[in-house]
Amino acid sequence: MRWSPILAALPLLAAACKGSAPADDAIALSPRAAQGKALFSTLCASCHAPSAKLVGPPLSELAGLYATDPEGIVRWAVNPGRKRTDVPPMPSFRGVRESDLADVAQYIIEAGTAAGKQRP
Ligand code: HEC
Repeated sequence: MRWSPILAALPLLAAACKGSAPADDAIALSPRAAQGKALFSTLCASCHAPSAKLVGPPLSELAGLYATDPEGIVRWAVNPGRKRTDVPPMPSFRGVRESDLADVAQYIIEAGTAAGKQRP
């Protein structure tokens, strides 16, 4: 049947999506971070996981870099720099409202700080 290659790929896709969901259901988030979590899942989770390196660095590393500078995450997302040469460049999220990116930044800092503490 014609669609079989697509159908065959569905379980793989489902598995990939599951794997990229943030594993932080146990963390108490501020209202702001909780707000940012959904958008993070949509926009960022495919490349950024709590403590494992996917395409991009883990949230634990991002929280370490930006714990006192959430605005820096927003600036980076709008206009990503180039630091790590072993990975492709990060795409820009210029089209996303900066107030929404600020919520995402708050989520990254809280979830990343918690993920960093879980690792000895
Ligand atoms: C397609 C994959 C991809 C997506 C989606 C993605 N990133 Fe990234 N991100 C990367 C890569 C790759 C790097 C490392 C780039 C480098 O160091 O040159 C990175 C690095 C970063 C950094 C580190 C900046 C620094 O100073 O080291 C931050 C912060 C960041 N991303 C935030 C975000 C946010 C917020 C989102 C969602 C709005 C997002 N990323 C979505 C791939 C992605």
